[in-house]
Amino acid sequence: MAMLSERRRAAAVMIAATTAAAVVAASATAAVAATAAAPVPPPPAPDFVIVGGGTAGCALAARLCAGLPRANVVLLERGAPRNETEELIVRAPLRTAAAWRTPTLTAAFPSAPNAGLRGRAVTLLTGTTLGGSSAINGAQWSEPAAGGGGAGTWGVAGLTAANAAAYYARAARTVGAVVPPRRRRPAYTDAWLDAAAAAGLPRVDGSPGVAPPPDRGSWVHPLAVTPDGRRADACAAYVAPALAGACAANLRVHQGVSVTKLLYPTARCGGGRRCRRPTAVAGIEYMPSPGAGAPTKAGDARVLYARRGVLVAAGPYGSAPLLHRSGIGPAAALRSAGIPPLVDLPVGEGISARASGTVIGRYSGVPLAWVNNATAAALPAVLAQWRAGRGGLLATAPTSGLSRWTAGAGGYTSVSFSALTTPPGAPHFFATCIPNPRSVGRLRVAAANTSLAAPPVVETNLLGDPRDVATLGACMRQQQAVVAAFRPGFGMVAVAPTRGGTPFTDDAVQAAALSGLHIVGGAAVGPVLDARLRVKGFRNLWVVDASAVPTMPRSAGPMSSVYALAEFAAEAIVRQYGGVCGGGRG
Ligand SMILES: Cc1cc2nc3c(=O)[nH]c(=O)nc-3n(C[C@H](O)[C@H](O)[C@H](O)COP(=O)(O)OP(=O)(O)OC[C@H]3O[C@@H](n4cnc5c(N)ncnc54)[C@H](O)[C@@H]3O)c2cc1C
Ligand SMILES: *[C@@H]1O[C@H](CO)[C@@H](O)[C@H](O)[C@H]1NC(C)=O
Ligand SMILES: *[C@@H]1O[C@H](CO)[C@@H](O)[C@H](O)[C@H]1NC(C)=O
Ligand SMILES: *[C@@H]1O[C@H](CO)[C@@H](O)[C@H](O)[C@H]1NC(C)=O
Repeated sequence: MAMLSERRRAAAVMIAATTAAAVVAASATAAVAATAAAPVPPPPAPDFVIVGGGTAGCALAARLCAGLPRANVVLLERGAPRNETEELIVRAPLRTAAAWRTPTLTAAFPSAPNAGLRGRAVTLLTGTTLGGSSAINGAQWSEPAAGGGGAGTWGVAGLTAANAAAYYARAARTVGAVVPPRRRRPAYTDAWLDAAAAAGLPRVDGSPGVAPPPDRGSWVHPLAVTPDGRRADACAAYVAPALAGACAANLRVHQGVSVTKLLYPTARCGGGRRCRRPTAVAGIEYMPSPGAGAPTKAGDARVLYARRGVLVAAGPYGSAPLLHRSGIGPAAALRSAGIPPLVDLPVGEGISARASGTVIGRYSGVPLAWVNNATAAALPAVLAQWRAGRGGLLATAPTSGLSRWTAGAGGYTSVSFSALTTPPGAPHFFATCIPNPRSVGRLRVAAANTSLAAPPVVETNLLGDPRDVATLGACMRQQQAVVAAFRPGFGMVAVAPTRGGTPFTDDAVQAAALSGLHIVGGAAVGPVLDARLRVKGFRNLWVVDASAVPTMPRSAGPMSSVYALAEFAAEAIVRQYGGVCGGGRG
């Protein structure tokens, strides 16, 4: 009985979603109003519910609704719709650092202490807006090197080393990843490439689909930025065109709502009876996101049933905690956190998180790089130029390019003449090393009484393996050599981690390291997911996002791999349901 009325209530919320604009903001008041005006027969529950409108979630939503035109797809995103200021910050590539300082776009929270950093915590960042981390990240498109842990090596059934390239290519085409034309490159990109080559990192082609060099090289990176200078995040590249075209009738995007837990069929788990191990999900429970409108109370919870299944795509810090809150995780840890364990799986164990270490140079022989001129970036004429689609400073990505190196476990260096983490204005050059980690960490289950707004406890374990310290140190020393190799007239001198490029110890590496911002593996294929990306033992619960990726791909960032995975997963689900998925619309 309780179930039935919940079902009606969920349906009423769906009416609100169908009659409002396709992209709607949820609020408790809207839901209540819809309940009061519900004489119309409620539409059926959607076929698929996608949790998290991020990089993977947006790609999944667009591909599923187009591939299954008679199925209804609902995408739930915790971030509220963006206002004009927030939209500018997301779209203008130069404003990336501003996005990291805007709490409605990016969550910034501390990791657990890292033994490898002498007990220091580091700041972690993740997207909290439609498009997810693809809406706030460096927009660098980097595909895994040959033999480098790309999507074809994760143990996903049907996704092989031979066919993975096609999924990377499909995603690269969809986001329009290209090497920026010369007029869109930060100043001094060529000066850096010359210095890198002189220091042993020769210039190579970094175009999408071109295999990165097996050993070492430097290149101007492809970016997920449109020809008119706008960031092409997952929402812009996938969801917006879907809503405007093929999926106008069968995709709903619900913003400003946080999914709190998975719901299981009552036969298994309801009416106060003790739960048996569920093998399917019935839907999800959600509520207005904390901070979006009125304060959240327990009574704000809403239910949304899914006729076919639930795809969890809440990102590297969201998917594992949602499984934990739903009783899926390490049984002992769940129990001690006050959560009744239903399914004992190592969710959150064995995550792979990158450290970073930055070498900074200061130049005096050439004018301040345009990308580092805050005065110019604030000029009305510069804004008008960008708004008119004529490029200019705001259309320029803050980073210049990438180097690849193979000492230790290998890794990448992202270089920039603009200050991503310090106030702009000083004539600095930044070379940030992001090694592939050997250490593994853990995303711990939070206590049952933890507020939804509280960030997860992330044991990043950065530099937890001593070999990772050596690898990061080797990269930073190599970058010192690049700083020293700029042509004499450039006037470049090293200022960090040591002045003038004097030698530094592993202690200095451990003192300087920060988060490399990339994290994968909270619900990995193998230990947690079966070969079809379903939580083991479930027939209709998938995890498709960075959490599913077992180890850090050997690329300069996991974004391309997350997109490739979403492309593959959507295709597989479309194939599975293509014959049967009527979705109540026929
Ligand atoms: C600052 C930064 C810079 C980066 N730069 C690069 C780069 O240049 N190149 C690269 O390749 N990689 C980069 N990365 C990594 C890359 O962006 C991520 O690996 C990738 O975007 C992760 O995709 P995802 O779909 O797993 O998660 P996300 O894109 O983070 O999506 C998760 C979504 O779920 C939502 N969500 C979470 N919990 C809930 C809930 N309970 N209910 C509803 N919604 C929820 C979130 O708001 C978010 O929109 C960067 C990452 C960061 C943080
Ligand atoms: C828009 O968002 C920004 C950043 O979150 C915020 O500071 C500003 O107050 C918002 N503006 C309006 C009009 O709501
Ligand atoms: C920054 O840009 C402004 C406006 O274009 C210009 O007047 C100024 O000289 C620039 N500053 C430097 C240090 O180059
Ligand atoms: C949450 O529960 C733990 C015990 O599991 C308790 O120590 C803590 O005080 C509780 N916190 C709140 C906010 O209720």
